Amino acid sequence: LVRDLQVAWTVDSTNAELLRCSAPEQGVRVLLAERQTGGRGRRGRTWASPLAAHVYLSVLRLFSGGLVRLSGLSLVAGIAVAEALHDLGYVQARLKWPNDLMVDGRKLVGLLAEGGGEYAGPARAVIGIGINVHMPAAFAEQITQPWIDLDTLAGAPVDRNAVVAAVLARLLPALETFDAEGLAPFLPRYAELDLLRGQTVRVEQGGQWREGTALGLADDGALRVRIDGVEQHVHAGEVSVRAQ
Ligand code: BTN
Repeated sequence: LVRDLQVAWTVDSTNAELLRCSAPEQGVRVLLAERQTGGRGRRGRTWASPLAAHVYLSVLRLFSGGLVRLSGLSLVAGIAVAEALHDLGYVQARLKWPNDLMVDGRKLVGLLAEGGGEYAGPARAVIGIGINVHMPAAFAEQITQPWIDLDTLAGAPVDRNAVVAAVLARLLPALETFDAEGLAPFLPRYAELDLLRGQTVRVEQGGQWREGTALGLADDGALRVRIDGVEQHVHAGEVSVRAQ
């Protein structure tokens, strides 16, 4: 149920703007922008957000069903966006823990959940989604990690409205389920879309890089990694993961 949907010309960050708003008692508040002047990425990074190039979408929702884990929320949103992209024919999209969507080792979507906190509800949380649609050449040069956009995958200019509609159609029911039932119903689908499972990954913990094998998700959304024969649970926010 969408209570309010706005498309702004320019904002600092759709996540930041929604965090300044009150959450509707029921349903969601949705904010899109044509451009962000201070787009936020994970781990304090910025998210380049040129005018009319990509999708910058945030959803604000009150979570009442008990514990709201932002890490779980971003995993659920990642699954929903992957499903939406599959609906549109981009069937190669896979999830790279904790919250990237990748195609052939290149980043297509970034997700950032904020607010809420890890406490019993009701709690406000914003899930922000940045989808690369048409990367302008001037911005492409500044991006240090491998990336891809929908125009490249489609071989033609992609309609951002159709992408947003497909994402909301998958995301909103998923958020309802997450609020009511938590992460458990999503774990089987995550396993199917999991890019890292069985892969050698490098995990940064306390400034040290360690190598291990990704084993999939734990029930609480942590990444299970076997390091030196011992299974460890790695939590988002503490680590940076690189596929080898
Ligand atoms: C990442 O991969 O580092 C996360 C990027 C998240 C970007 C989106 S764009 C819409 C929303 N508003 C923001 O400021 N960030 C998110």
